[in-house]
Amino acid sequence: MPSPRPRYLAPSILNSDFTRLGESVAAIGAGGADWVHVDVMDGHFVPNLTIGPVVVESVRAITSMPLDCHLMVNEPEKIVPWFADAGADSITFHIEAARDAVALARSIRGRERAGRRLRAGVSLRPATLLESLDAVLPEIDMVLIMSVNPGFGGQKFMPEALERARALAARREALGLDFDIEMDGGIGASNLAEVLGAGVNAVVIGSAIFRAPNVADATRNLKTMME
Ligand code: DX5
Ligand code: ZN
Repeated sequence: MPSPRPRYLAPSILNSDFTRLGESVAAIGAGGADWVHVDVMDGHFVPNLTIGPVVVESVRAITSMPLDCHLMVNEPEKIVPWFADAGADSITFHIEAARDAVALARSIRGRERAGRRLRAGVSLRPATLLESLDAVLPEIDMVLIMSVNPGFGGQKFMPEALERARALAARREALGLDFDIEMDGGIGASNLAEVLGAGVNAVVIGSAIFRAPNVADATRNLKTMME
């Protein structure tokens, strides 16, 4: 039996109180979060505009948790270097937006931070066929399956994402590849077990953590559920 894949909890700071971002990051760290998920939106690929490299640089300075940057932007090629230079550990781009996904994944993995190579991830909207990832799968460290339409936190989970995760895990097995499967959108205590059961090993959670009365406790509870 292969050993089980490590599980990662990645709170999304999109729904945090940005006037207290440092405290929010400290709270998820105290609760045992594994990664800080950073949702980057450009107002073009999605109808919202959020976090830029200057914020990533500030967060980098206050935490040693890996920064998991999710670029929901057109022309990701142009801004990948900005986020790499700002201190990202992992950069996920959207297959719908990349001109040459293989070249982009290779360019991300060709970079280093603190002696470690950056991780490349690829994501796709709920309506995009999984097959569109085929060529890039051997070149990436992670696939991020969206379980809401990208753009905003606090949306309702789309259960079709579970079947997509199962299909992707089967495809990974068939191809003999080794990448993490992350899921993002509408996840909380009520559906976390199903998400993990579908083969997901990295879970992004926004509002279920940052809208909770105590961010560290909410993080700790969800992390415990993942063990
Ligand atoms: C949606 C973002 C998500 C989202 C997660 O476009 O990529 O990371 O903010 O937040 P919740 O958990 O509230 O859906
Ligand atoms: Zn995200």
